[in-house]
Amino acid sequence: MALLEILQYPDPRLKQVAGPVESFDDALRSYIADLEETMRAGPGGVGIAAPQTGHLKRVVIVDVSSKPKIEQHGRMVMVNPEIITYDGFAKGREGCMSVPDYTGNVIRAERIEVEYYDEHGKKHQIESGGFEARAIQHELDHLEGVLFLDRLVSRRSDLFRRKVYKE
Ligand code: NI
Repeated sequence: MALLEILQYPDPRLKQVAGPVESFDDALRSYIADLEETMRAGPGGVGIAAPQTGHLKRVVIVDVSSKPKIEQHGRMVMVNPEIITYDGFAKGREGCMSVPDYTGNVIRAERIEVEYYDEHGKKHQIESGGFEARAIQHELDHLEGVLFLDRLVSRRSDLFRRKVYKE
């Protein structure tokens, strides 16, 4: 396994749309192992998307199990994910390994249903809420070339400089 380089804003590759994964092979699983190692090595470490490493494919990993006492599904490798329902709205603070110096308040759906394939090509459908749903929406945005910075209601009141990266 290997740690991958995380692209930093304003790298133009973070603005590109990722393409679908077409084969669930060993090369995909090997890449996902590297992506997961990179996520776990980073501060925060609750999610990562392939485009953050310059790999323009529709792969994300979300794992919010480090947060105590919240509704969550543990480790999820999501290939070709799609949000099929959105419900409610909530404003919450987000950070991103590609935007290490800032956090921001973003409005997201409170509950979502997501369809995705795991790294072996098995299809899953889950319902997610709260912080996990926020993390999933944040990571899926990366597949469309969208950063949380693009979703701030106001740069003046919803963007915060951080001194030390912590989650
Ligand atoms: Ni991010």
